Amino acid sequence: MLIARVEADRVRSLTGVSFEPDRGLTVIIGPNGAGKTNLVEAIFFGLTSRSFRTSDRRDLIPFGSSYARCRVTVSSRGVDHVFMASASRSEGNRFTMDGAKIEQSEAVLHRPKVTVFSPDRLELVKGPPAARRAHLDSFVAARWPSQAGVRSAFGRVLAQRNALIARIAAGQGDRSQLATWNSQFAEAGSALARSREQAVDELGERWEMAAEELGLEGPKGLSYRPGSATSAEEIQAGLEEKLENDLRLGRSSWGPHHDELRLEMDGRQLRRFGSQGQQRLGLLALLFAERESLLATGGSAPLMLLDDVMSELDERRRERLVERLLEGGQSVITAAEGELVPEREGIARVAIRDLTEAGAVDQTRGQST
Ligand SMILES: Nc1ncnc2c1ncn2[C@@H]1O[C@H](COP(=O)(O)OP(=O)(O)O)[C@@H](O)[C@H]1O
Ligand SMILES: [Mg+2]
Repeated sequence: MLIARVEADRVRSLTGVSFEPDRGLTVIIGPNGAGKTNLVEAIFFGLTSRSFRTSDRRDLIPFGSSYARCRVTVSSRGVDHVFMASASRSEGNRFTMDGAKIEQSEAVLHRPKVTVFSPDRLELVKGPPAARRAHLDSFVAARWPSQAGVRSAFGRVLAQRNALIARIAAGQGDRSQLATWNSQFAEAGSALARSREQAVDELGERWEMAAEELGLEGPKGLSYRPGSATSAEEIQAGLEEKLENDLRLGRSSWGPHHDELRLEMDGRQLRRFGSQGQQRLGLLALLFAERESLLATGGSAPLMLLDDVMSELDERRRERLVERLLEGGQSVITAAEGELVPEREGIARVAIRDLTEAGAVDQTRGQST
């Protein structure tokens, strides 16, 4: 699956921008403030109806305008589908495929998986563990589609058990129901924890290699840290042990929803002790490890959207990055200067100025007719 065309009608500073990315690697070049990140966001928005920068899609509406809209044409074995996402102050959000409203669960079957690297995503490495757990779970879903439901299955049991615990804590609940929910929690929790362990086993070495290659020096490790446990029996026992604490707090205070995906360098957490640059490399390496695993196991390569990725890398590493991207799959990357991107055959270079000025001309024409 490839994206054949992007039409950012109106997204932030972009109006009437239309372009056809290469099947391989496209580099978008332009100075700061030119709209490169906005273009990457527009592609992501068109494909998913979401933004990786904000949870409020109205941020994408150009200043002084009433809506944002982007269309992305996805080509798969000769068949085209046009995805359209829009956000409007008066009409809310819309997401369609070929003109008909579509749900996320359906859309993912017809579009490539999208992987985004952007400075805004550093939170994934720096921030609290919840985002890393969610990220790992989405990798599990992509790598082992039959396990795609483990996260939400656990989430449902957790919500039920939490509700029961809160009722008991308030003196209203029925303690005899605890046994059922504990055992369901243990089963679902174990399935979830095991899927994450399996994902970390699969990604660990690839992450270390990619990180080394990109310039994260020294011993490294990726690990899943169950603060809880991974077998159903252990989880069950743990729940019983922690029960009084749970009742005091009024929620399930222990379990896979507190576990951690840990990225380490020199035996220390990248999250707490890494420099911003090292954290960037750690994140980038994680995204590459996932891509490599999907490619190696016969999955399709995700579309890589890498925003402002070159700035932190020295020349040799920029070369390795570009070589990796040229090995297969479609990617769109941005760079402030063309010189930051090594000369290689097969790279399509696009100046953002050409896209935005063409857009401005179209717009004037539109107004005069
Ligand atoms: N909703 C919006 N409407 C119009 N312009 C916006 C909006 N949000 C951000 N911008 C503008 O987009 C520009 C930044 O674009 P950006 O894609 O981040 O540039 P680059 O990544 O090339 O440095 C800024 O001038 C900012 O004011
Ligand atoms: Mg930018």
